Amino acid sequence: MNTIISYIDENKDRYVDELSDFLRMESISSSPQHKDETFTCAKWVETHLRNIGIDHVEFIETKGHPIIYAEWMGAPGKPTVLLYGHYDVQPVDPIDLWTNGPFEPTIRNGDLYARGSTDDKGQVFTHFKSIEAYMKHHGSLPVNLKMIIEGEEEIGSENLQTFVRENKEKLKADIVLISDTAMYAKGVPTICYGLRGLSYFQIDVTGPNRDLHSGSFGGAVQNPAQGLAGMLASLKDKNGKIKIPGFYDDVRKLTKKERDAFAKLPFNEKKYAKTLGVKELFGEKGYSTLERVWARPTFEINGMWSGFTGEGAKTVLPSQAHAKISMRLVPDQDPKKIAVLFKKHIRNISPKNITVTLHEMHGARPALAPIDSLGVSAATEALKKGFGKKPLYQREGGSIPIVVTFQQVLGATPVLLGFGLPTDNPHSPDEHFNLDNFHNGIKTSAYFFDTLADMSK
Ligand code: BES
Ligand code: ZN
Repeated sequence: MNTIISYIDENKDRYVDELSDFLRMESISSSPQHKDETFTCAKWVETHLRNIGIDHVEFIETKGHPIIYAEWMGAPGKPTVLLYGHYDVQPVDPIDLWTNGPFEPTIRNGDLYARGSTDDKGQVFTHFKSIEAYMKHHGSLPVNLKMIIEGEEEIGSENLQTFVRENKEKLKADIVLISDTAMYAKGVPTICYGLRGLSYFQIDVTGPNRDLHSGSFGGAVQNPAQGLAGMLASLKDKNGKIKIPGFYDDVRKLTKKERDAFAKLPFNEKKYAKTLGVKELFGEKGYSTLERVWARPTFEINGMWSGFTGEGAKTVLPSQAHAKISMRLVPDQDPKKIAVLFKKHIRNISPKNITVTLHEMHGARPALAPIDSLGVSAATEALKKGFGKKPLYQREGGSIPIVVTFQQVLGATPVLLGFGLPTDNPHSPDEHFNLDNFHNGIKTSAYFFDTLADMSK
């Protein structure tokens, strides 16, 4: 093990340079203009896996972006780990708020800045580099390894769902290892055991057949922006409760044990509010902030646009108004059922004088992972060595749509071993990845494979 760790230490700077190459590719999965660049990025992953010593690499084209599948099965009798990660990234808007270009990786104060640095290229790369250390140094890994690196996580992983269902036997694994979450705080290694689900919609509202002079016509017709705003406002009451009938029916109640565990974590509401730049926190009454973001469902407006938004004033009554909304879901809510309830409710509250159209976008099922598994035990030991401290176990508010499919279709137990930080700005301008976490993450990954092999003797 020592020689593996020395190899990782010696190659530290080269690893950062290679990660920077990975980050230069604009693999924005939701953007049709970036389709070629996303393909190039997938090809880069394929080549990189071969370069680090994995011979069996498959480049799988889908209806959307390619999936990279790889395997190394040279440890008979040892567990099989399925490493999952994604090479696609979120859009970069608002671009003006980036200190450097989102695809010009730059190091400042020990952090590497670029879109995808923490979510998820940097995190997935920790494993590529520990695998490299084993393959270049020993020519073998301590466990069997399968890998799925996909390009559609940020848009719901639909094509991967199909791939997994159609390749059940091939993908069979004991453990699915994912580094796509954050640690509780810097210096606090963390294993995540819960993710929220998601249901996402675009709402399009049409009123008059063209933009109108707001003086000549204002007062005569319903304003679509007002109609949309009214509907959206009615979806949440002043206590933060969501007003869609049936929405909470399947929400699993938090146990006293879990509430107590959340309450024990150091959490300063004032400091948290301050770092977010808000006057005070707001959320569902009766729940703490950690409960609200990890274990309660939400309704959020992600974006709204209508009428004149340019500089200066233009007196206009818009013809159209639009919003993108998402609902984060918790066990045992089903995104399909929630989508049906949402559509029904919107139909019921739509004013008759405007036309409301709903476009269902992606969804994700909420996930819970056991923490008394072999994989989590190995990850716990690995974090102790890689970060020098015992980890804590927490849930997360974000979603990774494929996790439940891995559990249900492959029977694999998830290990959510995140190396990000809550302050990394994923999905925001100036996303970054802490280079200490990158380096310790690579070591942790190496210790994980070693410990897992040891534990299954
Ligand atoms: N890495 C995130 C998931 C995540 C976010 C974990 C925050 C922990 C904390 C992932 O890449 C992501 O952002 N997923 C999307 C999925 C969605 C588009 C279906 C998300 O959660 O918005
Ligand atoms: Zn991610």
